[in-house]
Amino acid sequence: MLKKFKNFFSNKKAKFDFEEQQVRLADQHFILRKAVQKDAIQYMKIQETIYPIPVPWPVDIVEMEIDNRNALYLSLVDQAKVIAFIGVSLSDKKEAHITNLAVHADYHNLGIGHLLLNQVFKYCRQREYQKMSLEVDVTNSSALALYDAFGFKVRTVHKKYYLRNHHDAWEMVVDL
Ligand SMILES: CC(C)(COP(=O)(O)OP(=O)(O)OC[C@H]1O[C@@H](n2cnc3c(N)ncnc32)[C@H](O)[C@@H]1OP(=O)(O)O)[C@@H](O)C(=O)NCCC(=O)NCCS
Repeated sequence: MLKKFKNFFSNKKAKFDFEEQQVRLADQHFILRKAVQKDAIQYMKIQETIYPIPVPWPVDIVEMEIDNRNALYLSLVDQAKVIAFIGVSLSDKKEAHITNLAVHADYHNLGIGHLLLNQVFKYCRQREYQKMSLEVDVTNSSALALYDAFGFKVRTVHKKYYLRNHHDAWEMVVDL
């Protein structure tokens, strides 16, 4: 994106605010806050711990999304290091859409995926969104277990959706 357009977008006041909070999980304390541009590099590091290179989102997409006024990105921070993030697109008042969710490999199975989804569900319910949707690789068993626990059901299949491996995606949806 041209720099002047990028600056134009980033100078506009954010539509979706989020108040920073302390969260406790498995006797560890974390900070949950809205993402800022300097988190982009840490989002790249998280992706490198869970995906083969090239990771799904290059840095320019990450930066653009953090500035996206129609979305909310939350960063989970442990001792000044971002260790997980979630993004939700909020442009359609009826249906919020999870754009990304990633937890650093060292922090899996602690309940962080549940925590981030719970936060986004709560945020969207408070703003009266009616549904939550997402796309997931049909072979991604850990993500599918998580989404199943939140009641997501398959709405449609997108054949060969992922460019990097040509896997199909399920589009999933749940009522809020
Ligand atoms: C999918 C992904 C986000 C899950 O994150 P996670 O933090 O490991 O998920 P959780 O810890 O909340 O849940 C995983 C397991 O831990 C368990 N768990 C442990 N402690 C928990 C707690 N305190 N609260 C809730 N669940 C807990 C859950 O029950 C769950 O077990 P189950 O799969 O048998 O049901 C993570 O594996 C990841 O980043 N994967 C790569 C990126 C990816 O695939 N993203 C999704 C794209 S669509």
